[in-house]
Amino acid sequence: MENKQRENWGSRIGFLMAAAGSAVGLGNIWRFPYMAGENGGSAFILIYLAFALIIGISIMISEFAVGRRTELSAVGAYQSINRNWTFAGVLGVLSAFFIMGFYPVVGGWALAYILKSVTGLLSDPAAIGDAFGAFITNPIEPLIWMLVFLAMNIAIVAKGIAGGIEKAGKVLMPTLFVLLILIAARSVTLPGAGAGLDFLFKPDFSKVTGATYLAALGQAFFSLSLGMGCMITYGSYLGKSENLPSNALIVTVMDTSVALLAGIAIFPALFAFGMEPAVGAGLVFVVVPQIFAAMGGIGALFSVIFFLALAVAALTSSVSLLEVVTAYLIDQRGWERKKSVYTAGGIMVVTGILSSLSLGLMSGFTLFGVGIFDFFDILTDKIFLAIGGLLLAVFVGWFMDKKDLEDEITNGGTVKFGLFNVWYNLVKYVIPVAIAIVAVMGIMSIEQTGLMLFGLAVIVVLAIFSKKL
Ligand code: TRP
Repeated sequence: MENKQRENWGSRIGFLMAAAGSAVGLGNIWRFPYMAGENGGSAFILIYLAFALIIGISIMISEFAVGRRTELSAVGAYQSINRNWTFAGVLGVLSAFFIMGFYPVVGGWALAYILKSVTGLLSDPAAIGDAFGAFITNPIEPLIWMLVFLAMNIAIVAKGIAGGIEKAGKVLMPTLFVLLILIAARSVTLPGAGAGLDFLFKPDFSKVTGATYLAALGQAFFSLSLGMGCMITYGSYLGKSENLPSNALIVTVMDTSVALLAGIAIFPALFAFGMEPAVGAGLVFVVVPQIFAAMGGIGALFSVIFFLALAVAALTSSVSLLEVVTAYLIDQRGWERKKSVYTAGGIMVVTGILSSLSLGLMSGFTLFGVGIFDFFDILTDKIFLAIGGLLLAVFVGWFMDKKDLEDEITNGGTVKFGLFNVWYNLVKYVIPVAIAIVAVMGIMSIEQTGLMLFGLAVIVVLAIFSKKL
């Protein structure tokens, strides 16, 4: 393992595309709008932006630095610096499994909607909402699409990432961006769109609670692919001459602008159509087709391209999650890539099936009061990622050598990073305290207290037992 030269990204653009591809995904276009809708809109968005720009960028720089320094994926990276911290990496691998418990289900929905766009979905705008409900609760149809989506992930990661996915991403990600701008332009010019813009940009802090802060923090981590070693893993393949802070800045700006654009595409139209903002997980699958339906014939074409681009955005993200587990099995267990991918993917097939069925056939089965889909989603989004980020910050701030960090982040003094001390103090003092406060406030004001305590217990158990790994 040690004497082999580590695989590297082909080019700077290749890495940026991969990291941005990981960040930009369902989190931006599917999840961000419905989280904003459920959490009162603009105040949530402002808090989210503050978290993404201050905590997000700092953590991303830290993950890149840890990954590139150690040239190892999550578990090995922690372990090689301090054995007692192995559990923080293990928590990351567990988080990858949990996110992959629901992500492919939604990825499958996006695939299905490519086809549905041309098979009558748009012909009856009033039925679009019911059609979505009927689709996701169907015991077979969404399962098949989920399996197709997972199979694509497995095929790509088995090959290594560079070839197909990077090429598809280079075409389809810009396409997605252009489409979102087009939809946004249509959306804001619909009669009655103003209410949506108010909802997005006129903050009403009276609705903000501890749960709002936790939701915004979780969303920032989720959307930026942070808090579980994904960017450690991607950073481990990164060349020594890359500028870490500027890459982190570019990825973060791209990611937040896509999220904002999705909000601007959706909310004005939503209010124009007289719908409720807090409809939950179906939001993009209902509002966006309605916008397209209102466009007449050309709408179907736009709809196909939109859901195709959404599926690709989802794929470039889920590939990074599968890669976290795969890289762990390769680096720490010494397995071959193919065996690693098939094993991890096989487990994800099982969790994906359970999670998809939990929305219909198995909706009566709950864990801590929520179905399996929500169990995976809430645990990672509200607990594991934020705590994973906190652990990373404490690790970097208190258990790594400041000189080593400076050396890594400035590429041995060859690039300037004027904010090094600001970054260091943020990571060492401010971020751990901020995350701890938000976590405590949020957990206290959230409905699923039992689930949250279970999540914390999992982390404690990992911390106790994985020392022996
Ligand atoms: N960031 C992706 C999205 O917004 C999801 C994702 C990919 C992710 N890799 C991750 C989330 C690692 C958390 C951690 O859709």
